[in-house]
Formats: sequence, C-alpha cells, structure tokens
Amino acid sequence: MCGIVGYIGYRNAANVCMEGLLRLEYRGYDSFGIAAVSPEITLFKETGKISAAKDAVNLKGTCGIGHTRWATHGVPSKTNAHPFTDCTGKIAVVHNGIIENYAELKRELQNRGHTFVSETDTEVIPHLIEEQYAGNLREAVSKILPLLEGAYAILVIAEGTQEIVAARMGSPLALGIGDNEYVFASDGLPILDYTRSVVYLEDGDLAEVTPAGYRIYHDGEEIVRKVSTLEWDAADVRKGGFAHYMLKEMFEQPEVFSNTVNSIAENPSPLCRLRDARSVTIVACGTSANASNVFAYLMETVCEIPTRVVLASEFKYYPTPKNDVVIAVSQSGETADTIYALKIAREKGAKTFCLTNVLGSSLTRVSETTLYTRAGPEVSVAATKSFTAQVAAFMEIVNIISGGKLEGAVVEIQRYLPEVLDCDVDKAVELVKDASTLLYVGRGLSYPIALEGALKMKEISYIHAEGYAAGELKHGPFALLSEKTPVVAVCLSGITYPVMMSNLKEIKARSAPEVVIGEIRDIDAEEIADVYLPIPKVSETAGVILASVVLQMLAYKTAVALDTDVDMPRNLAKSVTVE
Ligand code: M6R
Repeated sequence: MCGIVGYIGYRNAANVCMEGLLRLEYRGYDSFGIAAVSPEITLFKETGKISAAKDAVNLKGTCGIGHTRWATHGVPSKTNAHPFTDCTGKIAVVHNGIIENYAELKRELQNRGHTFVSETDTEVIPHLIEEQYAGNLREAVSKILPLLEGAYAILVIAEGTQEIVAARMGSPLALGIGDNEYVFASDGLPILDYTRSVVYLEDGDLAEVTPAGYRIYHDGEEIVRKVSTLEWDAADVRKGGFAHYMLKEMFEQPEVFSNTVNSIAENPSPLCRLRDARSVTIVACGTSANASNVFAYLMETVCEIPTRVVLASEFKYYPTPKNDVVIAVSQSGETADTIYALKIAREKGAKTFCLTNVLGSSLTRVSETTLYTRAGPEVSVAATKSFTAQVAAFMEIVNIISGGKLEGAVVEIQRYLPEVLDCDVDKAVELVKDASTLLYVGRGLSYPIALEGALKMKEISYIHAEGYAAGELKHGPFALLSEKTPVVAVCLSGITYPVMMSNLKEIKARSAPEVVIGEIRDIDAEEIADVYLPIPKVSETAGVILASVVLQMLAYKTAVALDTDVDMPRNLAKSVTVE
C-alpha cells in the first residue's frame, strides 16, 4: 500500500526519493509523486510505473519527499497523487494512512476559504498546517496533529527551509541516519543504500530533521529513541539475475528454512508459554493464515494443544477465550487487520506473541513477545519464502514442545528442498493455463497446502482457483467439475492417502483433468493423474512442505506463460495497511 520516502542531506533529493520509491514499489501503488525544496517547492506527479517516469523527473534541491499511492479516497490519477500542497504552494505533505475525519475538516477549511484540488483525505493536512505556520514548521505540525483522527505517517516540507518534519500515528515510519544525510521511509528497504542505522518512530512521535541533525519529540518533550541496525543487505533487495523477485525468493527457501529453524532453536525461551497454554489462537491473513493452519494441525496432532486459526479480519467478532495465548503471524508486521486483532487480544488479557519477518515492525510494538522468521526482505507480492520461513518456525516450535518429534521432518525438508525447486511443471502448466477455474484439494496437513496453492495461483495468474478439503467436493463443488475444470491434488502417504485416492477416482469419474502431486514411484496415483508431479518419498510433514514449493512453481510458471505482472499483480499490495 502507500509508501513514503524523504531525504535531506547533500545529494539530489528527488533522485534519492525516486530510488526509494522504486524500493517501495513492491508494496503496491497506482500513482506516485515527489516534492523538493530549492528554495521554492517543485512537484512531480505521475500515474503508472515509476521506472517509466524516472528520466522525466528533474527537480532540484537536497531536501525532498516522495510517495507511492494505493488509491483509497479517490481514483488513481495525477490529481489525487501525493505530495499535496496548501493554497500558497509553500507547504508540501506526503501521508500514509487514513484521516477518518477528513470530510468534516475539509468542510471547515472550505468555509474558511481554502480550495482543494483532490478527492483525497490527505489534502486537509497541508491546509491545516498553512493556518498555523509562521516560520516554525515543527510547531505548526504539532498544533494540527491533535485534529487528525485515524492513522498517519506524514512528512512535511516548507518553502525556503532545509528541514523535514515527520509524525507517526499508527502507520510505520523509519528514519535512517547516515553521514550528514537522513532518509525517511515506510520500511527499511529505501534506507539500506545509505545507512544501516535506523530509528523506528513510535506512535505519537514527531521528528524534526535538518542537515545538521535530528530531534524526536513525544508529548511536546524531546526524547531519545534507540538506534537499531538494519540486518538486511542492499543486495537482498535486487533480483540477482532472476527474471522475477518471486523466482529469486523461491530459490532462497532452502537457506531461509534452515536460518529460521536455527534461530528459533537458539532462542527457545518464549516458547515455554505455549507448553502451558490451555488453548492457542492464531490470527493472520492470506498466506500467513495458511502457514498458521499447518501449525494448528501440528499443535493439535503432535502436541495435543487445542489450536485454532481465526482470520485476523474476523477476530473482532469472536470472543477471546480466557487465558488464551494469541499469536499474530505476519510477514510484514504491518497488516492492519492482524495488528488490530492482536491489540484486541491484549486488551482482553490474552498472552500475546507475534511471528514476523520485519524487525521493528508495527506488530512487534503491540505484542508482548516477538519471534522472527529469517526470510530476509520479500519483495514479490506473492509470499513464498516467508511462507516457508513461517512453517520452519512453527515446525521448530512444535519440535521443541514435543521433545523432538519433528526432528526427522526438519532434516528431510532441508535435504530435499533444493531438489524440489528443480521440478518440471511444464506439462501441468499446459493443462491449467487456459482454464477459467481450478480446484485445489488436499486432506489433513495437505489441506492448508491446497489453500495456499490456490491463493498463489489466483493472485499471480488471475485464474480463479479455490482450495478445498478433498472430502468437501461432494458437498457442492462437484457441480463445477467437467473436462474444463482441472483439479490440482496433493496426495501423499499417511492417514489421508487411501481416502484421497478414492477422491481422485471420484474426480476422474466426473471428467475433470487431474494434476497430482504425489510421491515418486507411487504407481497408483501416477496412473490416475493426467499430469503427475513427483516429490521425494519423505514423512507426511516434510512432504506437504515440499509439495507447497511445487505448487509455487506451478503458479509462477503459469503466470509467466500468461504474461502477467508476476511480482506486482493487479489490485494487490504487499503490505495491507488498511482494515
Ligand atoms: O504481511 P502479512 O503476512 O501479514 O500479509 C498477509 C497477506 O496479505 C499476504 O500473505 C497475502 O495473502 C500474500 N500476497 C499472498 O501471497
């Protein structure tokens, strides 16, 4: 979703902001803009791809701000793109978040003579600042913040000054501290090219940055915030010779899996709470919810601890059981639904954990205890290595709680992941790529893998794909089956195997072509399948994770065959920061 960047120092601010916006592209956007001070404010706004407009930007000055917009209030257009200025054009603002009371503020400002050009909520902010500004930008911004209801991270610049004033309430904002230069950004990625030292602003913070230094204020008092070190490398956010970030990130999975298992194993203390838990609730969205369903299954079957997954956006409608442990799972740590769910859980007295991939993300501020996955930056909107990292963390947690019952599965995954990444899915791509609907099925531990496979396929190929527990097909979805409705099935040995084989025959009897992921040399399954995708013969727990990688490859290659925008699928954003 929206991303913001700001630069002040000795380089051309517009260039730094453009590079920064490119780093934030993965969050999803439909338009973008930049403002720089030199000494008056100049603006550049555009719709579409940032890379296409790179050479057209020619703004002077060493102090500037930039923004990628993901439309909420008003259509994607140049007029609705940030930065916004006041009536005089002397103050410019970029904003990430939503100002809930903007309509009321706008009416009041209009009554006082202000004119507006856009349909956005953000535009009220520069007009409010204009009314307070008398040469001290920090003072003016601090006066208007109490008027704003909702969430924001804002950056403000003013004509004739060399300073950026920033404020945060509910939307992420980090300040990179370099040598005589400072970079603001919604996350660490745009900062990495300049420095690894970063301060994460907290809700209610206001920062004032000039070429000479920075100050942070909270409740009107100057305070000191900890300087953290960004762990990721600038090289991690480049494609490194791969055609797409998604493919690169898939090939990082063997390393990511091992790094995450090791990091959980080295720091097992927070897990003690789970051992004593009467019940565990996990809140998550999308892929993180699918990984959480793998965890729930393992917690129930291996550890005998009742565990449920509630979609974070639905959690507020459910009662939180007393003495429950609530774990929020989120790659980005910025998903609004997940953060809100964890806040509610904490208010209701639950013990709270989070599992995230991003150090210092908003979720970590809400949670009592944080565990990290070690996936490194995930740029592609389609989550792949973060799923595998979450599963790695969950498997190691279950392994520790159960006294080592998943040790073997962990070793099998480490051994066979590189081999599975070489899988040949071309025939399967041919079978599915022209379908308008695909069904994905599995049972037991393979069910969340089917859900994840379908999610991956639909989001990057735009083919409608739904995941089902295979036993549910006859309760309705059978009506969809025909020779035009391919079914992708995960059929591995274990307690689900015999009945899964019956399901495959039932599907075949209804003429639906089948892509089956099964074990190598399973002649029976191979015979039923139209296309058979074999994986090594391993334990069921290891097998489903290997199968999930094959499903990622199937989705990826199908999307490439259909020539979609693999890394930035239409209408989607990497960080979903609105509820
Ligand atoms: O950052 P999060 O893990 O909280 O994100 C949750 C979902 O938005 C995310 O997993 C989404 O479903 C992915 N694009 C799927 O590939």
